[in-house]
Amino acid sequence: MRLFLAAASSLALAAPLAAAEISSPDGRITVEMDVDGDGVPFYRVERDGKEIIAESDLGFLFTDAEPMRRNFVVVGESVTGTDNTWEQPWGERQFVRDYHNELFVTFQETRESSTRVLSVRMRVFDNGIGFRYEFAAPTDGSATRIAEELTEFVIAPEGTAWWIPAGEFNRYEYPYNETPIEGVSVAHTPMTVRLEDGTHLSFHEAALVDYAGMWLKRKDGRAFRATLSPSSRGAKVVREGAFNTPWRTIRIADDASGLVENDLELNLNEPNKLGDVSWFEPAKYIGIWWGMISNRWTWAQGPRHGATTERAKEYIDFAAANGFRGILIEGWNVGWDGNWFGNGRDYSFTKSYPDFDLQEVAAYARKKGVHIVGHHETGGNIDVYEKQLADAMKLYGELGIDVVKTGYVADAGGIIACNADVNDPCEGEIFEWHDGQRMVQHHLKVVQEAAKNQVAVNPHEPVKDTGLRRTYPNWVAREGARGQEYNAWGAFNNGPEHDPTLVYTRMLSGPMDYTPGVLGLIGDNGVPIASTKAKQLGLYLAIYSPIQMAADFIESLAAHPRELEFIREVPADWAESKLIAGEVGDYAIFARKDRNSQDWYVGGVNDATERTLTLEFDFIDDRQSYSVRVWKDGPEATYLTDKRHDIAYETLTVTKGDSYTVRLAPGGGLAMQFKPVS
Ligand code: NOJ
Ligand code: CA
Repeated sequence: MRLFLAAASSLALAAPLAAAEISSPDGRITVEMDVDGDGVPFYRVERDGKEIIAESDLGFLFTDAEPMRRNFVVVGESVTGTDNTWEQPWGERQFVRDYHNELFVTFQETRESSTRVLSVRMRVFDNGIGFRYEFAAPTDGSATRIAEELTEFVIAPEGTAWWIPAGEFNRYEYPYNETPIEGVSVAHTPMTVRLEDGTHLSFHEAALVDYAGMWLKRKDGRAFRATLSPSSRGAKVVREGAFNTPWRTIRIADDASGLVENDLELNLNEPNKLGDVSWFEPAKYIGIWWGMISNRWTWAQGPRHGATTERAKEYIDFAAANGFRGILIEGWNVGWDGNWFGNGRDYSFTKSYPDFDLQEVAAYARKKGVHIVGHHETGGNIDVYEKQLADAMKLYGELGIDVVKTGYVADAGGIIACNADVNDPCEGEIFEWHDGQRMVQHHLKVVQEAAKNQVAVNPHEPVKDTGLRRTYPNWVAREGARGQEYNAWGAFNNGPEHDPTLVYTRMLSGPMDYTPGVLGLIGDNGVPIASTKAKQLGLYLAIYSPIQMAADFIESLAAHPRELEFIREVPADWAESKLIAGEVGDYAIFARKDRNSQDWYVGGVNDATERTLTLEFDFIDDRQSYSVRVWKDGPEATYLTDKRHDIAYETLTVTKGDSYTVRLAPGGGLAMQFKPVS
């Protein structure tokens, strides 16, 4: 009966159209959008005629309106396409091709009482799809209050998933699980899947702006539904006027390299809104940091205070002598004494501790041609931070501090914000999630305020990356996974498989401030790191960031001159990047071409399994031979024993088409530098 009524009233509104379909430019991926027998809007994805995503619902729940879930018909379909290539100011590659077909479908409700419209824009690329909902402004001027998004992702074939839990206290900082798809509970994105036929998928989102982050909740079997990060307001998203949701994205590739060499989310973001950002220089930095992380120094005042004027000058001297552009200084500002963790009420972002003279240190750095990397730890208290934000960024801008690392150390759900209903002075603190709508708004506010002062931003405990670096290219890196710091806190805390898993999961979202380069291979109290020495170098190729740290103490960096030489020379900005060998969770070897020379670099990371690889050098220029320097695992190297320090060096001459056989140790890695022979 309901079906009959729906059909009858729809005729009165607009003539329902047949299913809409669109294919990728190469014709391999096809997406269908339609409504089922109950008028539930859905999409479906096939590749090479094989179903990848089975009928998956589209829709919404609201806190103050009827759900948009059933009784829809298709009333509008339009098709367009794009093929254009754009340039990144910095990144894994200079040029990005945006080549896709687009289908815009309008669904309309057919109930007597309600004829609302649900519009979906679907873009289909050769290597994935992205779709978003577009909301028109409510005619009565009311706000849209979303209780939940009903978007589903029903994975048709069986497969394996690599994922971290969402909605747990430690934000994104979990080791990855590798389970059958049916073993996932609630996952953060990107979530990686390898189907039984070898097809690789990554589920994520693009352009997360003024909306809540999306988690993936497994409903049943291999069916997932979007779950939006919660909000203290009840409605998970509140928007005024017309708006678009973020894009829901699925990378689809034949193999691991197709998953990695994939710019789907960047292509779905808006072009650069900041104009010329050449003031940001991709570069490497050292820092007064590992000392605190490994518990030798403190952020707080006292006899072990890390950030003293004297030590800062010593680090600046080392940076100047070794070509590091940046030096991170943490614990320079008031507020670290006592219990900063998870409340951040005492932070000043402009006042230094008495044993640290910011003006003097900044002047010294300028004289030496070194740039301080600023630090704003908030303890998750964005109320305290937002009140000082303009002054804090202005101060850094004036001092030539052009990158700031921010931090939000608080349990997930423990971000402290001012109750906007009460306003200033903040009379009621409210608590938010790290990826709820309030925090999504906050991060963009910080990035925009920073940009005004020509400062780039690198948040830790951040919201995940959804490609917004295209629109705001001063949002240069972030944490958003278990970083190297975990290696300081317990033996083998990040297992050897962690880094080759990050490459195919977290790294699909964008640059990570992983902080490689702990050449001493020890953390707090001498705890060993599950890495060989060569792997610490391989990380510079495996884990991309335009700001790469050499995280170790300067004494330890100096004690390894041949490794330091590699770190000094490896670029942080690339013209091209290719994954030349690798499998999800096992190993990853990249070839990357320097953006500022003809040099190539090759290297990467291995898991716990010893393996021998033959690398084909078919990426280099065929008019040239190259002199190649190699840093590789020594014959006895293994992360399991003191032999993790065993490293071997080699020099070769190669031309295009040559290959090279190399052993990767358990927990090992590789680094190679190719210089054209003139
Ligand atoms: C956690 C960050 O990941 C780390 O890098 C930083 O040093 C501390 N928070 C303090 O801000
Ligand atoms: Ca962290």
